[in-house]
Amino acid sequence: MNQRMLDAVNKQIQAEFQSAYIYLSMSAQFEGMKMSGAANWMRIQWQEETFHATKLFDHVIRRGKTPVLFQLDQPTATFDSALEAFEQVLEHERHVTKLIHDLYEVAVEEKDYAMQTLLHWYIDEQVEEEENAEAIIDSIRLAGNSGQGLFLVDRELGLRAAAPAGE
Ligand code: FEO
Repeated sequence: MNQRMLDAVNKQIQAEFQSAYIYLSMSAQFEGMKMSGAANWMRIQWQEETFHATKLFDHVIRRGKTPVLFQLDQPTATFDSALEAFEQVLEHERHVTKLIHDLYEVAVEEKDYAMQTLLHWYIDEQVEEEENAEAIIDSIRLAGNSGQGLFLVDRELGLRAAAPAGE
């Protein structure tokens, strides 16, 4: 792995940990709103993002390099409703998808074939991330973003369990 590739991967590790931090902050906000199901969903998402970061971290080490961990920003985004929160999730995941695609471009330009193979997993994962957020937004809209409908959506979100490592 050359220096340009390493620099780019270090930035992506930061972005994944930053995502984890954002979702943990959202989990806290949902706890404050007494929406324990959505809080659970965000907490699982925090775990997933931590896994995304660590998978890149481990790859760098396996390639004989040393990852650098950059500083994270304090999550400042707030929301007034579940709909607003998941719209923020979707927007954020679209941003991450672009970052992954940009990283893939670097891997292609630098002819880093091992990184390209690894990033195929992330490209697929981003399709799933956006799909999940879109599905939840649809459910909240159908439920009317309040009352009993939202209560049922929250209960559904509470059923999300941690995926086995690597999924
Ligand atoms: Fe690791 Fe949600 O992107």
